[in-house]
Order: sequence, then C-alpha cells, then structure tokens
Amino acid sequence: MDKINNFYDHELDCLISAIKDGKHDYHTFTISSLNTDFPEIRTVVLRGVKLDPLSIFFNSDNRSPKIEQLKNNPICSALFYDKVRRVQLRFKAKAKIHYQNKLSSKVWDMTPLQSRKCYMGPFPPSQALDQYHPNIPLEYLKTDPEKYHSEDGYVNFAHIELVVLEVDVLKLHHDGHVRFKVTNGSDYIYLSP
Ligand SMILES: Cc1cc2nc3c(=O)[nH]c(=O)nc-3n(C[C@H](O)[C@H](O)[C@H](O)COP(=O)(O)O)c2cc1C
Repeated sequence: MDKINNFYDHELDCLISAIKDGKHDYHTFTISSLNTDFPEIRTVVLRGVKLDPLSIFFNSDNRSPKIEQLKNNPICSALFYDKVRRVQLRFKAKAKIHYQNKLSSKVWDMTPLQSRKCYMGPFPPSQALDQYHPNIPLEYLKTDPEKYHSEDGYVNFAHIELVVLEVDVLKLHHDGHVRFKVTNGSDYIYLSP
C-alpha cells in the first residue's frame, strides 16, 4: 500500500503543477452533470486544487447550463488523462458554486483581463443564436478590455469547487496495469484494471 500511497501523492502534485502549466494534460479535464436524466459532459480548465480534504476548482459563466444542472444535482464526475504517463484519474465529487462570495471575488481579482472578457458576452453560453456571434464584446476581439470595463464580467463569473468523494486511479503499463481507488482521502483499495 506504501507504493500506491506514493503514487497517489505524485498524481496530486501533478494536478497542482498543471494549474499553471497549460501544456500539461491535466490542465484541462472533463466534468459531467445531469440535465434532468441526460448526462452532459464538457471540457473545462483546472484552476485550483485544495488538499486535505481534496477539492478541485474550475471557472465558468454563471449563466451556462452546467451551473443550473449542478445546482439541481451537485453529484458529478471529473475525468483527467495524462497521455504521456498514461494515467487516468476519475473523481466522484459534489459541486459547490461560489458566486458573488469571498472566494469568487478573490479568484476574479486574480483573473487576467484577457480571460475576463469571456464573462462579458451578451449571451448566456449554449444559447441558440440567429446569427454567428463570438460572445465576447466585439470591441475586444483583438484587445483586452480596460480594467474598469472588465469588472462588468464579474456578474457572470462563477468559481466551482468539486469536493472530491472518491478517486479512481488507473496507470496503464505493458507488464500489468495498476488500478486503485481512494476514499476518505487516505483509504486505498486495489481494483481490477
Ligand atoms: C479546451 C477547452 C477549455 C474550456 N474551458 C472551459 C472552462 O474552464 N469553463 C467553462 O465553463 N467552459 C469551458 N469550455 C467550454 C465548455 O466545454 C462548454 O462548451 C461550455 O462551458 C458550455 O457548457 P454547458 O452548456 O454544458 O454549460 C472549454 C472548452 C474547451 C474546448
């Protein structure tokens, strides 16, 4: 068990590195939600990791359908795959939406102007459009917004925390795959790969 304990700790280190490293495969991940009884998945960017107990974080437009879905049913899954090291991480989690609170305000303050413009679009994400629109203010297509104007985006900004309930780790290896799950942060059990 010592070995998988170290292995798991290394994966957590990789997740932390991937927050700032856009080239790391863990920089983006897939998050599920339930649209009534239909599962929906999409790619998001990893924005934070908190340890003991483990939570992972991403940002989103508060108007996007996933927010409503996660409010209606916060139980979700998150999926990462590191192609280079051939490691898959599957998280079972409970989503908590941070909107217009201390944490979302702190994260917004650190959000660069270039990213802030994504929250300044006139339309809710995923809404049907009569004609093409990039859903960022047209005057900022090629430039960043002024700081004062970028603050308009905060009303649409949400920081989502995924409180991790269980982790399933799979390492592909030619002489025998290794798979185990972690519950309660430190209870390990091998699984058949
Ligand atoms: C590489 C990549 C990164 C993305 N990052 C995010 C993100 O961090 N947050 C987000 O809300 N959407 C992100 N998206 C867009 C979502 O995948 C999705 O299309 C959008 O959020 C609407 O999803 P929804 O209708 O399920 O709410 C990203 C898409 C790609 C391709």
